[in-house]
Amino acid sequence: MAKDTGTTTHVAAGELLVATGLQKRFGTTYAVRGIDLRVKAGEVLGFLGPNGAGKSTSMRMVTGYLEPTAGTITLCGVNLLTHPIEAKRTFGYLPEGAPAYPEMTVEEFLAFVAAARGYSGSEARDRVEGVIERVHLQGVRRKSFETLSKGYKRRTGLAQALMHDPRILILDEPTDGLDPNQKHEVRELIRDLGKDRAVVLSTHILEEVEAVCTRAMVINHGSVVFDGTPAEMESKAPAHITKNRMDHVFRMLTTGDRATLHAKHAKGARR
Ligand SMILES: Nc1ncnc2c1ncn2[C@@H]1O[C@H](COP(=O)(O)OP(=O)(O)OP(=O)(O)O)[C@@H](O)[C@H]1O
Ligand SMILES: [Mg+2]
Repeated sequence: MAKDTGTTTHVAAGELLVATGLQKRFGTTYAVRGIDLRVKAGEVLGFLGPNGAGKSTSMRMVTGYLEPTAGTITLCGVNLLTHPIEAKRTFGYLPEGAPAYPEMTVEEFLAFVAAARGYSGSEARDRVEGVIERVHLQGVRRKSFETLSKGYKRRTGLAQALMHDPRILILDEPTDGLDPNQKHEVRELIRDLGKDRAVVLSTHILEEVEAVCTRAMVINHGSVVFDGTPAEMESKAPAHITKNRMDHVFRMLTTGDRATLHAKHAKGARR
């Protein structure tokens, strides 16, 4: 059982997603070592870190797909661990990969998601049409999921996350596998959605962070090593680095001498 399930967490005004002291242990190793996440409406938080850093594990915990070893999770003021059904209504989640029934067509799958979200009749149809339009799936709506290209699978996953117009969006590598045009479109969509919602997205594309995120959080070996604006992150690169400055900072934060890193990044780490 997770500890602290009944703990009341302090939630400041405007904060839609609050997770504190989040930990996940698999066997004897910690994948996530006590991270805090506070995301307000209007914030798009880019979750960065090398492969295996603990991004997806953290996202699975805040969406209730994985039970935390310790920590508290509050979504739109609802405690996820004590009121999971109510809390799960508050967010849309695009998981890593693209889970869906392979033989269903895009519109069948979206109708299924609408029904699962409790919509029926014309409201369900309107919801499905709304997300098909918003994510531009008109051209593939009658194709079965298994025959879709990687990019359209990802877009269908994004469409299901938007079905109930949630206040919180948790998107695990939303632009993974998209071509440059689709990346551009999806980034515009996320920026637009983020204006009045709390969005957490993970990505390995650092230019995406500059393009869509209001805040960047870098995790390494399950711990937060940077939390600040993309501009603050970029400014950590030495002056002589003129190209790919974000990539340089990412490498500084996630490889090499940890003692030097701590000294360098203590200022940037907000808790
Ligand atoms: N169910 C599981 N059982 C055991 N170990 C797991 C499990 N899920 C994740 N892990 C481990 O937890 C660590 C964090 O994995 P996670 O998938 O969260 O990383 P990530 O930051 O999302 O990486 P990527 O960028 O590759 O998607 C890894 O060491 C991974 O092997
Ligand atoms: Mg992942």
